[in-house]
Amino acid sequence: MKKVMLVFGTRPEAIKMCPLARELGARKGLETLVCVTGQHRFMLDRVLSAFGIMPDFDLDIMKEGQSLFDITGEILARIKPVLEGARPDAVLVHGDTSTAHAAALACFYLKIPVCHVEAGLRSYNIESPFPEEFNRRAVSLISAYDFAPTAEAKENLLREGKAESRIYVTGNTAIDALKTTIKQGYAHAELERAKGKKLIILTAHRRENLGAPLHGILRAVRLIAEEHAGVQVLYPVHMNPEVMRAAREELGSCRGVRLTEPLDVPDFHNFLARCHMVLTDSGGIQEEAAYLGKPVLVMRDTTERPEGLKAGGLMLVGTEQESIYKSAKLLLENKNVYEKMARAENPYGDGSASEKIADILEKI
Ligand code: UD1
Ligand code: UDP
Repeated sequence: MKKVMLVFGTRPEAIKMCPLARELGARKGLETLVCVTGQHRFMLDRVLSAFGIMPDFDLDIMKEGQSLFDITGEILARIKPVLEGARPDAVLVHGDTSTAHAAALACFYLKIPVCHVEAGLRSYNIESPFPEEFNRRAVSLISAYDFAPTAEAKENLLREGKAESRIYVTGNTAIDALKTTIKQGYAHAELERAKGKKLIILTAHRRENLGAPLHGILRAVRLIAEEHAGVQVLYPVHMNPEVMRAAREELGSCRGVRLTEPLDVPDFHNFLARCHMVLTDSGGIQEEAAYLGKPVLVMRDTTERPEGLKAGGLMLVGTEQESIYKSAKLLLENKNVYEKMARAENPYGDGSASEKIADILEKI
């Protein structure tokens, strides 16, 4: 029997890999192992528990205030005996995190084939997002098989010289996850509080936005909330201590803004499905909101998700306070602009990506 191992460690990887772990686990022709790095200890464990996934191996690397050196160094050291002991026929990594990069590098050293899920995304700016653009390009150098979420992502890989016979367009497993979490009749106290108001979901955590850009983002949100009494902003704050400090400083006492701990993924998805619009610098939320028909202001200078921009559901607004403020105001006050964005097509698939990937793995 073929043995495959999934390796992941952060919240977004877990949300997009758990549906795949479940699907692979149900296939009789495959033995499926899950190895988590624990890069995000708390946020990872919440996702594992939401999807009922019990890892076979846990590298447990997280320490508070960890640097990129800590993450990569610890994973390389701790994953070696796991891979040598289990000797999987293939390892699946996801996306662009340091977990994905370090795990792929370890497989390269041990000559274990790597399959890259969510392959081929590019901003073509090595500094942004940082260090993710480097991570995903490095994984592409190593990977034997690539599961690209969209045709554009496949094109990027072809342009870089990867063999077409080993690239599969599958859609994004984020949509698979959404299909299991969103429930009719869902209720929550935070939604009750926002009843009758336009709910804006805010998230911001990117490493390259820490410092002045993050403060600019949060001040823009403050202005929007202060000027629009009919708006309720909900900000589940990422656990990075620097993000938590900035959030408290800029929005701690702002009427119309609720700061919460990270939400469990079923809650977050159900909130997204019921919100008016989204302000974010996150990657995965851009895909989820596109599927749910929620306009997104992407608070970044670049995006590796041009399909969403082209489709019209995303607007790239940078990290300057003035630009975010003006765009949010436009979206809140101009019905035509809002409805055009809300009607945009979803380019990220129909929620069958895990099934497609499992079919391919059984064959190759
Ligand atoms: C990582 C990924 C990024 C992804 C993000 C998703 C890298 C280099 N970056 O960035 O691509 O968008 O995850 O959220 O891999 N922390 C906790 N508890 C947790 C999770 C995090 O305390 O459950 C703290 C960590 O100790 C650390 C900080 O948050 O101090 C940042 O975590 P880290 O994994 O280093 O980077 P992220 O910015 O989360
Ligand atoms: N998410 C969550 N709870 C929250 C905020 C986000 O479950 O409070 C989910 C969200 O649905 C998406 C993922 O976390 O699937 C995005 O993670 P993040 O923004 O941390 O990372 P990125 O996608 O930018 O790499």
